[in-house]
Amino acid sequence: MTHRIGIIGGDGVGPEVVAEAMKVVDAAGVAYTPVVFDLGGARYLRDGEVLPDADLEAIRGLDAVMLGAVGTPEVAPGVLERGLLLRLRFELDLFVNLRPFVAGPSSLNDGVDMVVIRENTEGVYAGEGGFLRKGTPNEIATQGSVNTRLGVERCVRFAFELAASRGRKHLTLVHKTNVLQFAGDLWQRVFDEVAAEFGSVETAYHHVDAACIYLVQDPARYDVVVTDNLFGDILTDLGGAVSGGIGRAASANLNPTRTSPSVFEPVHGSAPDIAGTGKADPRAAIVSAAMMMEFLGKEDAAQRVREAIEKTEDVTGSTSEIGDAIAEQVQ
Ligand code: IPM
Ligand code: MN
Repeated sequence: MTHRIGIIGGDGVGPEVVAEAMKVVDAAGVAYTPVVFDLGGARYLRDGEVLPDADLEAIRGLDAVMLGAVGTPEVAPGVLERGLLLRLRFELDLFVNLRPFVAGPSSLNDGVDMVVIRENTEGVYAGEGGFLRKGTPNEIATQGSVNTRLGVERCVRFAFELAASRGRKHLTLVHKTNVLQFAGDLWQRVFDEVAAEFGSVETAYHHVDAACIYLVQDPARYDVVVTDNLFGDILTDLGGAVSGGIGRAASANLNPTRTSPSVFEPVHGSAPDIAGTGKADPRAAIVSAAMMMEFLGKEDAAQRVREAIEKTEDVTGSTSEIGDAIAEQVQ
């Protein structure tokens, strides 16, 4: 069966790294029909469209989406991030953002082998809030954190299932329950309730500030981490930095119920400062593509891609040279 895969290169280095990722998918022998979408800063500047309904409907019918990066200095912050990336996460109900970190060549510490499960549809990202008296000296801005029982529970449950399937069977809840007394209380209660169903999984709780220290000084204590949208955003940039660079960090925006396509993307952003220079490391996008193949049931191809990345660990060069080296190795 040929998979229909949406390609959204997006902004900055996004199109460059996605091209390498798809080159490697080709080399791995996974047949697919690319459905290319012209979305991102260039499109918005041209015709004012961020994610037209017709494109969203077309995306709903696909098997998966490979996305590069979103955001460019020519467009006000938030327009593309909210209008394209977050809208896709919300509309497709991609409630799990799965971000694995494994010690790489420039790791601060070789003990990193963990997965962060970031809740991906709620929290302060939901867009609750607003202005009062905007532009006056008495102006007020609020930004609420939305945490639903359903949203927290399905994410926590996914994390327990993942932890139960791994060797260590360890799951840490990261939050800030000492200050966020409502959201933190809901997360902690749901976590404890679901834990009772997973007797084989050992659990821990860390405040997010302490988790930042541990992640730098003693990351080996983590196996699976589950956390909310904002903490997960911040923690996963740090996870990338301590485990061999953000150029290696991959992610999967998953709809585990498969009622809509999942979206695979590197953790890094569009890096407009190096766009077009060939300096972007495509490995994060290539690992994201391997995660996509796995999710589409092509475990063998995904495994070959992972091995090819390991074997070409020392390869340096331009974006396309690294992509070529991995593609050659995978055949
Ligand atoms: C990420 C990115 C996005 C986020 C931005 C671009 C909206 O930083 O995927 O981590 O904050 O989720
Ligand atoms: Mn981020």
